[in-house]
Amino acid sequence: MTVLAVETSCDETAVAILRGRDDHSGHELLASEVASQVAAHEKFGGIVPEIASRNHLIYAPRLLDRATSAAKIDLSEVDAFAATSGPGLASSLMIGASIAKGLAIGFGKPYLAINHLEGHLLSPFFRGADGGEPIKPNLSLIVSGGHTMSVLVGDLADYQLIGRTVDDAAGEAFDKVAKMLGLGYPGGPEIEKRTRGGDPNRFDLPRSMPDSENFSFSGLKTAVRYLLPKIGVIPSRRDGEGPRTRSFDPLGPPYERSLAFAQNDKLLSDLCASFQQAIIDVLVAKTIAAAEKYHVDLVTVSGGVSCNQELRRQLHQGCSRKGFEFKSAEPWLCTDNAAMIAFAAILRLQAGFQSKIIEEIDPNLALV
Ligand code: KG4
Ligand code: ZN
Repeated sequence: MTVLAVETSCDETAVAILRGRDDHSGHELLASEVASQVAAHEKFGGIVPEIASRNHLIYAPRLLDRATSAAKIDLSEVDAFAATSGPGLASSLMIGASIAKGLAIGFGKPYLAINHLEGHLLSPFFRGADGGEPIKPNLSLIVSGGHTMSVLVGDLADYQLIGRTVDDAAGEAFDKVAKMLGLGYPGGPEIEKRTRGGDPNRFDLPRSMPDSENFSFSGLKTAVRYLLPKIGVIPSRRDGEGPRTRSFDPLGPPYERSLAFAQNDKLLSDLCASFQQAIIDVLVAKTIAAAEKYHVDLVTVSGGVSCNQELRRQLHQGCSRKGFEFKSAEPWLCTDNAAMIAFAAILRLQAGFQSKIIEEIDPNLALV
């Protein structure tokens, strides 16, 4: 069984072709193409939905060609077409879903609408040709730019939401703090790069621990914002033309990398390391506590922020200490891609699920 999936929920255009063995013993990834739009949105300091959807329209047909040639397959040989149907940007989701539905109608094949979060959540189980591992009950931490949630997973399509962020997602906090520091977008990898040699204990930043299993990261972001002038980082105008000013406007323009950073790289690496550690402490503590409370044997992590090596290491360490098995998605599967959508689609098809061709996209689609 061969599935072609299209992912266009945000600013990555992606197409993947995945073949599942008939005896369900594994999967062969025939093609996985991702076109990043980072350069197109970087200068705006965030994603512009109109630009994202226009670019999806341009990139998707090219990626379809590249994926089918890489897979050495004709579209008529595909057994089912899938697309991300939410959550995400409406104008972006619409492009991928329309393409997959059009192909399904044109070739008379089934269509599968896949929840983007299910794609992330199942990605730690993606093992490709060396044998697919069955989904096992687990406590799943999804940490991305749009979402931070923990989900109790019983099996495929058996999900219970345990906790979620009440404000910013973890990736959003990385992106916003990176913007304040005048670093590039996406902020997570930029901050992680600068943590090398940094002292994670130099700055005392808050670890917000709401009573429930929920998360909160906006206080941490604000704490960094108020810390900057105190450590001599001077806000400056973005275009670099105006005089540097010492007045501090919390709603003002983002900080440029200031003189203080230029002269003292250690300050930047200590700040990045302290910020990253504050996020990791919260994610690890809450995840281990939830795993204990719900008596799971396995903890999984997925989503863009789970590319972060220190988060992976500390989560793994925390799990080992408590006797939990730990599984993370491979780094190339952590950020948005269509292979995870194809994987979810093939598992759903093999389990007898199918979507109606009239199924609408839903920007706020819930996982459960
Ligand atoms: O899963 P993803 O590609 O898109 C969403 O579904 O949101 O996640 C993107 C997020 C961004 O916020 C990005 O800054 C963050 O993942 N990210 C990281 C790292 N790589 C990507 N955060 C921390 N450390 C990283 N190495
Ligand atoms: Zn995502």
